[in-house]
Amino acid sequence: MKTCLLMKKIFGKKNFGLLKEIGQAAQEDGLTAYLVGGPVRDFLLNKLSKPCTRRMQGKDLDIVISGGEKLEENTAINLAKKLFKIWSPHRRLAGEAWQKRIKFKIHQRFGTATILFPEKGNQLLEIDFAFSRKENYPSPGRLPEVEPGNIEDDLYRRDFTINALAVNLSSDEFGELVDSTDGKNDLKKKFIRVLHEKSFLDDPTRILRAARFAGRYNFSLEKKTLTWLKEAIKKNALFTISRQRFREEMVNILKEKESAHCLNLLADWSVLSFLSPDIRWDKTKTIDYKMEKGDENWLVGLLLLIKDLDYQKTEEITRRMVLTRKERKIILQSKKYLPDALKALEKNYSLTHLYHYLSLLPEQGLIYLGVTNSCWTNLIGTFQRRKDKAKPVLNGEDLKKIGYPPGPIYKKILKKIFQVKLLGKLPTYLSEKQTKEKEIKFVLRHFPLKGVTAKERA
Ligand code: CTP
Repeated sequence: MKTCLLMKKIFGKKNFGLLKEIGQAAQEDGLTAYLVGGPVRDFLLNKLSKPCTRRMQGKDLDIVISGGEKLEENTAINLAKKLFKIWSPHRRLAGEAWQKRIKFKIHQRFGTATILFPEKGNQLLEIDFAFSRKENYPSPGRLPEVEPGNIEDDLYRRDFTINALAVNLSSDEFGELVDSTDGKNDLKKKFIRVLHEKSFLDDPTRILRAARFAGRYNFSLEKKTLTWLKEAIKKNALFTISRQRFREEMVNILKEKESAHCLNLLADWSVLSFLSPDIRWDKTKTIDYKMEKGDENWLVGLLLLIKDLDYQKTEEITRRMVLTRKERKIILQSKKYLPDALKALEKNYSLTHLYHYLSLLPEQGLIYLGVTNSCWTNLIGTFQRRKDKAKPVLNGEDLKKIGYPPGPIYKKILKKIFQVKLLGKLPTYLSEKQTKEKEIKFVLRHFPLKGVTAKERA
């Protein structure tokens, strides 16, 4: 199939249309636009796999603008501005009014810009624009110094040959591949290969990225690449990157569908000890945990990784991984209550006790239990469903109206309702009005109000 047709099929009609418009808009200004990096890699992987029917979804598009003499640090920003003007007013596609929701961001310091399109659900299609650049690393692990360059320079500064790929978007050369480092061949051979000897020292996050791509696609590291990677690890290159950059790449790994495979590689290369020397990652135990779409579910992966660490060491990890306050709370709460929940499951505690311990856990702690032992998956699933329905209909306002004086008793009452609903002792399938009546009856029976007669209570 012709590349153009295939691009339409794989990127989808809408994104294909956008790519064509980007190419044209650049050409009008005497520039050349390229699609680069991940989307090109995945497009070629699709092309190589037969039949290549898989559509690329949820993929951001990275655009690099080249232009010889015309290229300046503002070139990509200006082109993105021009496209934003074209795309934002009066534009309707597939019945959807974009103009209200399409967004534009400029990152002046980097000479880059982003256009964000609303997609189905809450998803956004992100199109990033950058000018083609040459990089120079002042010292290992630091961010590089940048100057304008041509498309080959831009590809040469990248991590692996399979990511150093570009597709020309200008009208006369639309769909032509730029592959100056033989990346397509490495995709065929299933190889991760760096572009030069100093690559891992220049940017040690590439050590983590190598594990991510090798794990995701089930590729191997080319021989010299593996040697250079191990040398960089021995030289403690990972200590030269900031905690934030380390976090970003670790989170990317934990979000991967095959994250266990990526972690196995990191364990092989003794990289996990950079996170904590006490991590024991059991490679033989194939833990099949699937990342749900929820934002924080990658924390399940982190919980698995740090399962042998005590509370204090876990606290250290939350700092090292620069966790947000919310993420930190999920991890520490899980760490605190998982041992009791595990014990309750292992020792077949009564449902009342088991549910008590399970309800102390955050959602990710529950998922953790479900994936640690497949015998518990159903039990945990039932608990999660019941928990959602067990939320009391009554609230503080209602309790006040009934006549309870405000105070700690409210928490106690609402907790009790939650517990009995969890155990199925109060119905959860009635209308809101009927449920409320049942809850009121229950509360009055178990928390008698002074001065209210039995008759009134009934
Ligand atoms: N890149 C790089 N070195 C890095 C980070 C990024 O060379 N340390 C380049 C690669 O060419 C990569 C592109 O920037 O393809 C975009 O990076 P990123 O979004 O992290 O990776 P993708 O390849 O798009 O991966 P994914 O499929 O996970 O989105």
